[in-house]
Amino acid sequence: MTSPKPRVVLGVSAGIAAYKACELLRRLTESGHDVTVVPTADALRFVGEPTWAALSGRPVSAQVWDGVADVPHVRLGQNADLVFVAPATADLLAKAAHGLADDLLTNTLLTARCPVVFAPAMHTEMWQHPATQANVATLRDRGAIVVEPASGRLTGKDTGPGRLPDPAELFEVARHVLARGGARDLAGRHVVVSAGGTREAIDPVRFIGNRSSGLQGYALARTAVTRGARVTLVSANVALPDPAGAEIVAVGSAEEMHKAVVSAAASADAVVMAAAVADFRPAGYRDSKIKKTEGAEPEPIRLVKNPDILAELGGNRPAGQVIVGFAAETDDVLANGRAKLARKGSDLLVVNQVGEDLVFGRPDNAAVILGADGSHTEVPRGAKEALAEIVWDLVAARLRPPSPD
Ligand code: CTP
Repeated sequence: MTSPKPRVVLGVSAGIAAYKACELLRRLTESGHDVTVVPTADALRFVGEPTWAALSGRPVSAQVWDGVADVPHVRLGQNADLVFVAPATADLLAKAAHGLADDLLTNTLLTARCPVVFAPAMHTEMWQHPATQANVATLRDRGAIVVEPASGRLTGKDTGPGRLPDPAELFEVARHVLARGGARDLAGRHVVVSAGGTREAIDPVRFIGNRSSGLQGYALARTAVTRGARVTLVSANVALPDPAGAEIVAVGSAEEMHKAVVSAAASADAVVMAAAVADFRPAGYRDSKIKKTEGAEPEPIRLVKNPDILAELGGNRPAGQVIVGFAAETDDVLANGRAKLARKGSDLLVVNQVGEDLVFGRPDNAAVILGADGSHTEVPRGAKEALAEIVWDLVAARLRPPSPD
């Protein structure tokens, strides 16, 4: 017998980003989800009913008066495994926060007992308005996941936070939330994740870098968002799509990463340093490209030490902050890992073996996670997201209970 398909209600409210929800719908249906699209009446001005019906393979209704004998305003919410609203307009968030129920989508939100995700999209002013922020806080308090909008070009000429994240990344959020049953053990927490590899400039065209792809850090950011955290992702030279809901701070060098991480860490409950940070940088930057001189030997490049961000965080942290490091080792993996954990003053150290074919740029990873309390967690080879979930499990277990205010 095949297991039943997960049932998803895709709510669509009236924003221009409704067209991006078509791509989310396609990904959901193609990966074996049973999706019912519930647009608001005005959402149908942006994308019409035939598109939703064709892509979902199901009838589409915006209001409660169709097929009343089936009591759809109750049944859809009750039977769903996930309700995902994308885009969620300021108006829809306000209605949801206040429990209004004047159409099929808002009725469905009131009857749903499954995880509910809102992916807001609107102009920056509307997003930042205290009314919208209060509604978002209310929805989060009640257990919904509200994905932070992405920053960038909005409709018209302006830019700022308010864009609907990439549909492929929204799909990842849906997939994770379904897999975890909507558990939000990082709700109300701020976590900082560093990812990628720093580049230390030699001259305008050359740098000293490393082979880190950023996949592990991005998996950590993505999984933390779905567990309810506010995520700051300090990203160095990563060519991957932005995880939905994370605030991205792009940096280049170790010194830039140092500044960005230390600043974000001041308010963080946890910091995970997954980035490969260059230990050294060229002592002097050449303003113009270094040229070769016929018959002369190249000049050596003198290196100086970069700040050790992880060690600095470990030595001077706000009370209760949990700090996680990663250790890339080629030999004596465990012994080097234990020594590094002590040297850096972290709570946890994820130790993995690196080499030509191991870890860098691969979607999977194997590791052992060492705890300052003596714990030792073996993580068998698997997806980097599976390792990320285990890291967050260990972090969540070490966080102090949230303050009551
Ligand atoms: N790290 C850091 N700042 C640096 C170097 C490393 O914050 N300047 C962090 C990395 O993000 C990682 C951890 O320290 O979480 C371990 O990095 P690794 O390169 O394995 O250790 P190193 O301290 O560089 O030690 P070594 O290269 O001698 O093994």
